Amino acid sequence: MKTTASYIAYLNQLLSSYQIHYQNLRALHWNIQGEKFFELHLKYEELYTRVQVIIDDLAERILMIGGKPMFTYKDYITNSVISENSLITDGTDGMKYILSAQKELLVVERVLFKEAGKFEDEGTSAFLSDLIREKEKTNWMFRAWLNQ
Ligand SMILES: [Fe+2]
Repeated sequence: MKTTASYIAYLNQLLSSYQIHYQNLRALHWNIQGEKFFELHLKYEELYTRVQVIIDDLAERILMIGGKPMFTYKDYITNSVISENSLITDGTDGMKYILSAQKELLVVERVLFKEAGKFEDEGTSAFLSDLIREKEKTNWMFRAWLNQ
């Protein structure tokens, strides 16, 4: 399969975004306060554990198609579409962050899904469509939790 540097760069943008999102989720897990502590402390752990698996799968996918995954925090911060969060202790603010971060990740994944099709990169297409479907489901749940 022949890909291009810009396609690999865009996959690295998704990888970088997940890395910053991962650290933001850890911070939510650590800093949650209030009566939803037990519920959200666990939910955040479930989410960052899943993101950790996605990060590894994505980095290895980049290698499989001949690219090099970014691995430094400096590169992640430069390339992520998601910013590092300031301190969030409130549960509703945390869930709002997660919903907005997932929307940003979905935008990148949908563009990449179309790009993967152009390169006939079926493995990456399948990987991305799983991520997209999973987020469509969890976004519905986060909206329900937020009464939106
Ligand atoms: Fe923990």
